[in-house]
Amino acid sequence: MEVSKIVMKAYELAKQAQKNAYAPYSHFEVGAAIKIKDCDEIITGCNLENASYGATVCAERGAIQSSMVKLGRVEFEFLVVVSNTSPAIGPCALCLQVLSEFAKPDLPIYFANQKEIQSKNYFGDLLPKPFAEIPKIMK
Ligand code: THU
Repeated sequence: MEVSKIVMKAYELAKQAQKNAYAPYSHFEVGAAIKIKDCDEIITGCNLENASYGATVCAERGAIQSSMVKLGRVEFEFLVVVSNTSPAIGPCALCLQVLSEFAKPDLPIYFANQKEIQSKNYFGDLLPKPFAEIPKIMK
C-alpha cells in the first residue's frame, strides 16, 4: 500500500530490527518500529524468545521498553509491525494491553511483512475496550 516517507523509513528500520529477532523456538520473527511524536528518532524492537516460552518478549513490547529507556516517554505517532508471515500480523492481545497505556484509539498501526506494508489499522479497532486505570472498588 502507499504510505508516507516517514512510514516507509520506519518500515525499513523495523525490517532491520526483525533481522535481530531471537526466535529459535517459533521461528516467527518480528520487528517493530515506533515513531515518537516531536522527535526524529524511530525506536525499534524485535522479539526475544525464552526456553520457558512464557518469558518471551514480543517486538512491540521491546520497542516500548526501549523508547522509555532512550527518551523517557512513549508518545506514539504510529507503529509498524513486520512479521515473516503472509498475511502480516499485528500486535497480540498482551501487547495491545501494554500499548493501551500509551496509545489513543486513533493511533495508526501498520501490519507488514518483508515484502510490503499490507494494511493500516487503528488501535481503537484492535482493542476497543482496554483495561484501564484502577477502577473504583465498590464498597
Ligand atoms: N510475537 C511478537 O513479537 N509480536 C506479536 O505481536 C505477536 C507475537 C512473537 C512472540 C514469539 O516470539 C513469536 O512471535 C511467536 O508468538
